Formats: sequence, structure tokens, C-alpha cells
Amino acid sequence: MAFIEQEEINRIRNSASIVDIISSYVPLTQKGKNYFGVCPFHDDHSPSMSVSEEKQIYKCFSCGATGNVFTFVESFLNISFAEAVSLVANKIGLSLSVKIEKKEDTKFKDEYALMDFAQKFYQNNLNTEAGQKAIDYLKKRDLFADTITNFNIGLALDQNSLYTILSKKGYSDKMLEDVGLINQGENGLKDVFQNRIMFPIHNLEGKVVGFTARCYLSELTPKYLNTKETFLFKKGNILFNYHRALDAVRISKELIVVEGNMDAIRMYSNGFKNVVALMGTAMTKEQIEIFKKLRCKIILMLDNDEAGETATLHLGELLEENHIAFLVVRLSGEKDPDSYIIKNGVEKMQEALKGAISFIDFKLNYFKKNKNLNDATDLAEYIKVVIDSLKSSNDIILKEVTLQKLSKDYNISYAILKEQLGLNEAKETSKKVKIISKEPENKNSYDKICSKILYYMMNDLEYIKLYQTKLGIFPTKEYRAIANEIVYYYEKNKSINLADFISFAENNTLKEEIMAIIKNEKDLVLTENGLLELLDILKKKAKKEEINKLKQQIKEEYDINKKIVLLEKITELKKENE
Ligand code: CTP
Ligand code: MN
Repeated sequence: MAFIEQEEINRIRNSASIVDIISSYVPLTQKGKNYFGVCPFHDDHSPSMSVSEEKQIYKCFSCGATGNVFTFVESFLNISFAEAVSLVANKIGLSLSVKIEKKEDTKFKDEYALMDFAQKFYQNNLNTEAGQKAIDYLKKRDLFADTITNFNIGLALDQNSLYTILSKKGYSDKMLEDVGLINQGENGLKDVFQNRIMFPIHNLEGKVVGFTARCYLSELTPKYLNTKETFLFKKGNILFNYHRALDAVRISKELIVVEGNMDAIRMYSNGFKNVVALMGTAMTKEQIEIFKKLRCKIILMLDNDEAGETATLHLGELLEENHIAFLVVRLSGEKDPDSYIIKNGVEKMQEALKGAISFIDFKLNYFKKNKNLNDATDLAEYIKVVIDSLKSSNDIILKEVTLQKLSKDYNISYAILKEQLGLNEAKETSKKVKIISKEPENKNSYDKICSKILYYMMNDLEYIKLYQTKLGIFPTKEYRAIANEIVYYYEKNKSINLADFISFAENNTLKEEIMAIIKNEKDLVLTENGLLELLDILKKKAKKEEINKLKQQIKEEYDINKKIVLLEKITELKKENE
């Protein structure tokens, strides 16, 4: 990654208007000096994010997200810091002295080009004589020219035609095997995919990394043959259709998650563009991380069969554990979203999505399965599992509403239900309260004071000077390191303001600590007296510690004259501290 000089970063930051740049992604309205918009970094519905033209920073009053124009673009587009600088420069018509390459531009360049070629080759096969049968099959499945083109659907023929052409182009067997296009057959190396409809799978950046290939001449097992796990294709890191869905997800703040690639294709081509497919019913840690980064609400719409239902329960629990907001859609009548749209049309799908239910409502239904609620034992068991599943939730209102509903629906005393849930809950809350009450104590005033002083320093040269004359050095290493960075920055740039310092932090090993300080202290009102007070407290604290050290030394000292010298020192320090 190219290194951009700090001066250049500052120059671009200074020439860009944060309001202009952010408003090209999120609508902003002016109120007084500041601009406000809906925060894209959490599930927000009212304008909690303020953008200051004067300070050139943004802050969200709800989730605490804060930073300058670069960090905004970086988080919003999920790109690197250098890419963000380059993008902002581009937007305001400045050019960078270094060329910023996207992460993948150089790495695996040949392999990506190879996958791209394979995809185009398969796609072109649809135009051959053999392709007609495949097109007939696709037509029968209501997939027409536009969709076939948009999703780059193709065809693998029945010979080793891909292997032959790629060998002629000079690709080595090893490379072709490594990316999963050829493998060892009975008669030597051969095309992995033969006689199958080819659906390319893209990584998050939109590059072809693999294929999922469906049989079409007859029903075979496996129905879908996927590219093996390769260094490019890691199924667990990928969501089918992610790169196409991204823009729509940002606008709607919702992401529809389905099982099959055909479901995603059907949804997308019918206007539900914010859709991805898991390619099965598993959800990996990496996929959860992708959802978290998107900061949107998930609509989980798995197949309408037993596997889909069980998976909804498991994946729902997983999403809940990870604090990802989501709703559940259970379709009825048809097997999956694909056939549901074919059979019932777009409007019915819209209705189904509007009727998305909460996870607890899904569970209330799910746990009824195979139970006769007129039977006392079954009913008791049902109530028990529902209450058990409520225990993990932190949502008090949800618990209350569900208990009331259970009480009403099954004519059970609300007090008993509450007690059932409450008994265990009391234990859990007392644990939680302890942890919470420990936090602020542990994060004692010393840490808070240091953090505030450092924040002052990040904002104004005068504050750095005050720190240097009144304190000079932080008593502890970690704060000293950050202070050193700030002083270093100021000496190099001869000025400091928060917006510029944020981009410096971005390039820094202390980035996380610095960003945490900015986040915690962002509402601090800066006055010279405020800083002087903080510095004073810290100075006194440092002296107290010095006194304690000297006292210890006196205890350990045998020479009476030396004892007297130490005592004098203590008296002096005490006087200073008064
Ligand atoms: N899948 C797979 N391998 C299989 C079967 C399924 O990888 N042998 C994945 C595919 O990505 C598929 C998804 O799981 O899209 C859901 O499977 P299924 O519901 O069986 O497929 P459909 O989407 O209904 O496929 P089709 O409509 O083409 O029959
Ligand atoms: Mn399906």
C-alpha cells in the first residue's frame, strides 16, 4: 500500500468540505451551524449524526461514531484509509502524488483474470448449438435473457473444452487445479464442471472466485456442484449476490437473506435488490462479521421446509447472540422464495416481507410443533421452552409483552409466568449490576483525566503548550505514548486540529486508543481553565505518588542523615501540593 505523506493528507482534508462529501452519501439538513443526517453506522431512524463544517468532523449522538471526512468514507464504503484519501481527492478534483491501488489489484491478479476468463467462456457456451438446451431449461425456470446476462449465467459443455483452451493460452495445470477449474479424473486431468449450468460466485469486491453449477439434462446428485475451497473461494467468507446488493442495502438499511442462489436471483430480478444467499443453511462467523459491518436489519427468509425452519431457529439464535437486528419471514404454500414469486407474483412477496415477524413470534410458533396444547403436559412443556428462550433476551419490554400474551392465550396466571422468568433473571441481573458498577470505579478518575487532557491536546496547539509547561510528562507509559504522538504531530506540522489529527491516527499503531479517546471525550467543552484544572489534579497525584515512594525509602534507609534529606524532600513536595 502506498504511503501518503501527512502534509498531503492534510492538504486534501483542508480542501474538502466534509458536508459536501458526506451529503453525497447521506442526505443532510442544516440546523444552525451544523448539519444533521441519519447515521449510516447503526440502525438509525432519526437524524442523530451531526456534521460540523467548522470543525470538519462528524459525530453520532446515538452510537458514538465520530471522525473526519476520510474515516467517514472509509467506514461507509468499507475501503482502506489510503483508498478513502484517494477517493476524496478525486471527488474534489485534486490528484495524489502516489497511486493508490486497491488491495486486490496486484495480489492474485493472474488468478482473478483466469476466473474471469472462465466465466466469460462458460457464458459464451450458451450461444453454441449445445447451449440451446440449456437456454430452454433456463426458460422453463422463468429465467430470461436479461437475467441470464445480469447474473453472467453460463454453461459447461460435456468435454474438457475449458481445460483445452486454457492450456493453449499457457496456463499451467497447477494453477488451473489450484483455482478449482480442473481436477484429476480416471483418464487424467479434466474439467471439473461438465454439462452443468454455471452460476459465477463473486467475492465481496465483485470478483469471480468460484462457481455453483446445476445439473440440467437430468436430476443428478449433487444437484449443485460448487468450486472446492481454494485460496480465492472460501464459501464461508462469501454471500452470493453481495456486491450487487450493497447499494440497495445502504438505501433500505435492510438485507434479505435467503438460502439458494436461485432465490437471490429471482428476488433481485424482481426488484428486491437488497438480497443475498447463504448458499445453504449454514452461517459462518465471517458472514456474521459482514452483517455487523453493514449495520442493517436482516430479514431472514429461508426455505419453507423443515430444514429451513430449523435453520431459522439456529441462525436466529446466532444473530441474537451477535446483537444483529433481524426479523423472520416464513413463506407458506411454496418451497422457497423463488417458487413463491413465480407462483404468487411480486406483490404477494412484498406483502410477505411486510409481514416479517420478530424472532420471539417465530419461536412461539416453532415450539408449538408436534405439541397438543390442549394437553396439560404438552402445554406445560411449551410454556417452559418459551420462557427458557426468553431468558437470553435483554429486552424487558419484549419479555413483558410475551408473558402477557402467554398468560392471555393460555389462561395462565401472569404472576406465575413472571416468577418463572424472574427467578433466574434476578440471579442474572445481580451479576450484571456488579459488572456494570465495577466498570466506572475501575476506570478511575485518573484514566478519565488523562483521556481528557489528551483530547484537549488533539484540538489545539495552545493546549499542547499548556501540557508541556504545566505537566510535561504523563506518569504512565500508555498515556505518555499518545502524548508523544500528539507532540510529534504538532512539531512536524506546526499546527493541530482534530479533523487532521484523526487521519494521522488512522495511519498510527495507537489508532484504536486515540479513536477511543475521541469517541469518549467528543462532547467535552474545551476551556483553558478546564485543562488547567485537570493538569493540576494530575500533577498533585503524581506528587502524592512521589511522596509515597520517598516514605518507603525512608523506611528502608539506615543512615540518619540521608533520612533527614528524604524527609525534607517530602515536606517540600507536600508544601507544593497544598
Ligand atoms: N446447495 C449446494 N449443494 C447442494 C444442494 C444445495 O451447494 N447439493 C446450496 C446451493 O447454493 C443452493 C442452496 O444450497 O442454492 C439451497 O439448496 P436448495 O434449496 O436445494 O436449492 P434451490 O435453491 O431450491 O435450487 P433449485 O431451485 O435450482 O433446485
Ligand atoms: Mn431452495
